[in-house]
Amino acid sequence: PALHKVIMVGSGGVGKSALTLQFMYDEFVEDYEPTKADSYRKKYFWMEKMYKLIFLIQQVRKIMQQLGTIILGVEKAFYVYFLLRRMKVFKQHKSLVAVLSIMEQILRVKNDENIPFLLVGNKSDLEDRRKVSFQEASDRAKQWRVPYVETSAKTREHVDKVFYDLMREIRAR
Ligand code: GTP
Repeated sequence: PALHKVIMVGSGGVGKSALTLQFMYDEFVEDYEPTKADSYRKKYFWMEKMYKLIFLIQQVRKIMQQLGTIILGVEKAFYVYFLLRRMKVFKQHKSLVAVLSIMEQILRVKNDENIPFLLVGNKSDLEDRRKVSFQEASDRAKQWRVPYVETSAKTREHVDKVFYDLMREIRAR
């Protein structure tokens, strides 16, 4: 079966693991532990065809160092980049700029316009602590020509949507 690699990038604590675990096991992990396991595998069938997905969880500062290896290491891989909003101490512009430069580097290294990117703002349940308006984030996404979705790993809002959209994208390629 085709093996597809999905990279979730974001600053520490934005919810990369929580989102993945919610999607895979219907569980919300309340206690914050910096990621130990940094990859999760999932198999699924669609129209009698099996797909294998590997989710790689990467912090922004680490991916900058490893970008070349990650991208060149796997052939026929697909990459989706998640920016997850950090609600507590959200360094808005820093994170957004980092994501943009990651996307630019991937496009340059892979030389492939068809890599699907997706911008995700997580922790939508913490609306009262929001630092970036939906409008601002989606304007930014539009500028970069990527879809923008807001999720909550806690309430499961849009979690399935994000992953199913991604799989549809993968099957279409
Ligand atoms: P690193 O491993 O440091 O890269 O972090 P991460 O991006 O994998 O974050 P993680 O999934 O570990 O989540 C960090 C903390 O935020 C945990 O305490 C989660 O319970 C919490 N959290 C994650 N997603 C949400 C969410 O959607 N809503 C709320 N309220 N809390 C969340």
